[in-house]
Amino acid sequence: MKCRITQDVSAAAELIRNGELVAFATETVYGLGANALDPNAVARIFEVKQRPHFDPLIVHVAEIDSLAEFTTGLSPQAQRLAERFWPGPLTLVLPKQSVIPDLVTSGLDSVAIRIPAHPVARELLNAAGLPIAAPSANKFGCLSPTQAQHVAEQLGDEIPMILEGGPCQVGVESTVIQCNEDSIVLLRPGGISLEDIEACAGIVRLARIEDYAETKSQVSPGMLPRHYAPGTRLHLIDQLDQIPDIETIGVLSLYPLSETILAGREFAAQEILSPTGDLKMAAANLFTALRNLDQSGVECIVALRLPERGLGRTINNRLERAAY
Ligand code: TXA
Ligand code: MG
Repeated sequence: MKCRITQDVSAAAELIRNGELVAFATETVYGLGANALDPNAVARIFEVKQRPHFDPLIVHVAEIDSLAEFTTGLSPQAQRLAERFWPGPLTLVLPKQSVIPDLVTSGLDSVAIRIPAHPVARELLNAAGLPIAAPSANKFGCLSPTQAQHVAEQLGDEIPMILEGGPCQVGVESTVIQCNEDSIVLLRPGGISLEDIEACAGIVRLARIEDYAETKSQVSPGMLPRHYAPGTRLHLIDQLDQIPDIETIGVLSLYPLSETILAGREFAAQEILSPTGDLKMAAANLFTALRNLDQSGVECIVALRLPERGLGRTINNRLERAAY
């Protein structure tokens, strides 16, 4: 492995300014960053991730003031969401300025923008003095990385540096929202719950994959049927009596399963997302838990659906795509 895991922000910023890639911590997941204004650097992101070019990237900026350079403005609803949730795990899809290369947006006339909250991400953005395009720092379709070590395992041979910032506190990707004139659309459920978005900006419409049948490039990977997937086959079940009769199973659940429910049955591996049933904690643990089960050598992973509220909805979304 040639990459260096470090906390050296100025070295990372230097690499970004020189058109190289740096993986860095954010509060959601680790991102694979490049200068968003340099098409060659951005092209490297697609290459390293093996990501299809129809899938546009999120541009990260440090301050709301710099938005005017990259977008033609925020609608009143977008403005409200930005004031309430930035810095944080919210991405807004906004009309783009021409300075953003087409490669970043897959040719769309909109650009996805996020102001991250993690101090490491913020220091990097400030030190680089550039907008940073960054998808999650994993191979396309695979589990997202929530620790520097996860990035090293998948991309360590292909990038020069990982800017370490500890385990990601949110643990699932940002919520992607598009504010149209007549509606607010949820393109990807994420680290901010639908309930919180609606409390701030009003009723939100859920994007359906059919809405985008003609313009493939507008489909968010959150909407691609298979994504966020471990190598091991995953079954998503609603009730425990649906557990398949397979020799070695790894079980993923929100709570510990009680002895009565288990009825003497033992599983080869087990991951509990939150002993107290806390959905935020569950989100923070999700990708590491899936990774552990994937590496445990079981024949299949069985995940029990979480309550469909708050971040439970986001976790279920990721599990559905992992199970497809
Ligand atoms: O939390 C996150 O959002 C992380 C960290 C690194 O910030 N990034 C991330 O990026 O998850 P990525 O590339 O894995 O997901 C970007 C999402 C995709 O669903 C993509 O389709 C959508 O944003 N997206 C980007 N630009 C878009 C646009 N112009 N219109 C619609 N969707 C867009
Ligand atoms: Mg991703």
